[in-house]
Amino acid sequence: MSEKATLAINGKSYEFPVVKGTEDELGIDISSLRTSTDGVITLDPGFKNTGSCESAITFLDGEKGILHYRGYGIEELAEKADFLEVVYLLIFGELPTESELEKFHYDIQHQSIVDEDVKKILDAFPKSAHPMGVLCSLTSALTAFNPTSVDVRSEEAMYKSIVKILGKFPVLVAWTMRKKMGLPLNYGSTSLGYVENVLQMMFRQPNEEYTLNPIVVEALDKLLILHADHEQNCSTSTVRIAGSSHAGLFVSLASGISALWGPLHGGANQAVIEMLEAIKADGGDTKKFMAKAKDKNDPFRLMGFGHRVYKNFDPRAKIIKKAADEVLADLGIEDPILEIAKGLEKEALEDPYFVERKLYPNVDFYSGIIYRALGIPTEMFTVMFALGRLPGWIAQWREMRLNKEPIGRPRQIYIGKTLRPFIPVEKR
Ligand code: CMC
Repeated sequence: MSEKATLAINGKSYEFPVVKGTEDELGIDISSLRTSTDGVITLDPGFKNTGSCESAITFLDGEKGILHYRGYGIEELAEKADFLEVVYLLIFGELPTESELEKFHYDIQHQSIVDEDVKKILDAFPKSAHPMGVLCSLTSALTAFNPTSVDVRSEEAMYKSIVKILGKFPVLVAWTMRKKMGLPLNYGSTSLGYVENVLQMMFRQPNEEYTLNPIVVEALDKLLILHADHEQNCSTSTVRIAGSSHAGLFVSLASGISALWGPLHGGANQAVIEMLEAIKADGGDTKKFMAKAKDKNDPFRLMGFGHRVYKNFDPRAKIIKKAADEVLADLGIEDPILEIAKGLEKEALEDPYFVERKLYPNVDFYSGIIYRALGIPTEMFTVMFALGRLPGWIAQWREMRLNKEPIGRPRQIYIGKTLRPFIPVEKR
């Protein structure tokens, strides 16, 4: 593109190339800013205006409420694809053929055994430990059992480490929950589908057969697809930046899990349910909590509302709200907090505070209600988000390494003390 952006500073003017994405988004390429201006940088806390990379994985238009994975609309994928197809699509760029999908599934299932010593690590955690902390530690610990770093120039080595983590991660997810519930640690079966296997590993009781419920399988499949990638969000950027130092895949993923845990990001799904429970316990007065959310002296925020990029609606939230209604009806569950959630949403959408700030329900406003209906404990919700986001993290890590991106290392504007003499302790 020949268009240029002009910047004037200190009486001089500089030109920077403008880059254009395939969906016509524009960006100013400032990679030569420091060298051409003798040290000037941009300042953008929270990276609200900063693109960290060029990526061909996910397209998102926050104003129009659009989300595409590799060119496919999220609505169509949620309705027609299954999670494993989406995993393949995100990582390798195209939907798999039947035989590619079969091989991919086979390779994952046959890489799913976790070293028995990992159980000893899990054993050392107290039962009260939050599952996200446990999952993060176990994911990191996998590195100790797979110490050779991936040769990213070898397609085969890259593929092997990808199927390895896709095989072992669901086992860690299931064990994390089983530890919490005091159940024996088990394995699934190589004959089951990816999502079916996750459910069996999580829920099978030691003394009875586990019968898969197709409604539950479909609901979890859909939730995982909706969470599978979301371009350069907090946890994904963390994975990319950790991996940019050439740290291995598993530890880069562990850093992503830490970032996801926070209540402003993936931890919101747990926080939403806790908030709805608190409203219910308080007598169901949603107006009281709305007032708290608007009060600048109160740290309370309406969890599950607002998004850094969606300023119109979150397309995932639309799909999830409908799915919550369907899943609860199909399972014959009446959950009073669904009604509280709907009431809260209605009030917020009519309230000038939320309207002016473009705060809409996000993906996590209704997801917890579905997880709850599926029998998943509240503290496991963010772990389920991590299971869904895993392919996105892998795809973004792979892209970053294949593109040979430089180490991520932002700059700063220093606002501390200028140089001053040291004062010995007795004179301070
Ligand atoms: N409740 C009340 N006020 C809010 C909320 C909320 N949930 N979200 C934003 N605001 C207000 C905020 O106080 C600020 O007001 P003012 O301009 O008067 O200072 C304004 O809206 C803009 O907020 P911001 O914090 O500058 O926006 P951001 O883009 O930095 O933050 C967010 C986005 C998602 C962190 C934020 O909306 C939030 O904390 N939401 C609740 C947590 C949540 O649901 N997170 C899940 C996000 S979706 C899942 C994922 O992918 O992570």
